[in-house]
Amino acid sequence: SENIRVAIDGPSGAGKSTLARSVAARLNFLYVDTGAIYRTIGYAVWRKGIDPRDRSAVVAVLPDLEICLTYGTDGLQHMELNGMDVTAEIRLPEVSRYASLVSAYPEVRAYLLEMQRQLARENSVVMDGRDIGTVVLPDAEVKVFLTASAEERARRRMLELEERGTPEPYAAILRAIQERDWNDTHRDAAPLRQAEDAVLLDTTALDFVQSEDALLHIIRERT
Ligand code: C5P
Repeated sequence: SENIRVAIDGPSGAGKSTLARSVAARLNFLYVDTGAIYRTIGYAVWRKGIDPRDRSAVVAVLPDLEICLTYGTDGLQHMELNGMDVTAEIRLPEVSRYASLVSAYPEVRAYLLEMQRQLARENSVVMDGRDIGTVVLPDAEVKVFLTASAEERARRRMLELEERGTPEPYAAILRAIQERDWNDTHRDAAPLRQAEDAVLLDTTALDFVQSEDALLHIIRERT
């Protein structure tokens, strides 16, 4: 098909979603935030009071979940869970932890695989996640591994939370980021790692505009 696939993977807080969304808008591609899909499952597990460490309980709930990705007139990706818009709720810090835990289960990943691939069959996409270049779209035309130091990611996250009026201490933010990094890189099912053919983009010393320029440059070179 004519569709182009841009896979962007990396740890949480590296600026993936902001950059991917902006670049997708410039290229007129669909932006797919796969973390939001995992968060929707994390949210469902949390709401139902299921222990996220109880693998069989988590897996048992999957058939009850109807997860839908919609795009508002604002062009933003919205998540629906059984007909309810949960776009805001999935950003709660507790949901981040649940998402990180439930995404380690192969059954959860298998459940979401086809949904992600279908989006890329039907559209040119900029898809951001942890295993897009390695598992979901191994034949993607462009693969980028976007990262930044844990300290810099924690600093950015702290500013973001302050702006939102929900500040948290730096040490707690850094600890949560390191815990999620560890979970994401040490799980057996599709651990976070750079694909061999991915371009490494480290944004530790780059601001948003510089990061975006670098990302666009990588994409244009390969398409
Ligand atoms: O990217 P975001 O932080 O929103 O992702 C939430 C969680 O979902 C991550 O901690 C990660 O464990 C999981 N995830 C994943 N695979 C993806 C995207 C996200 O396992 N493709």
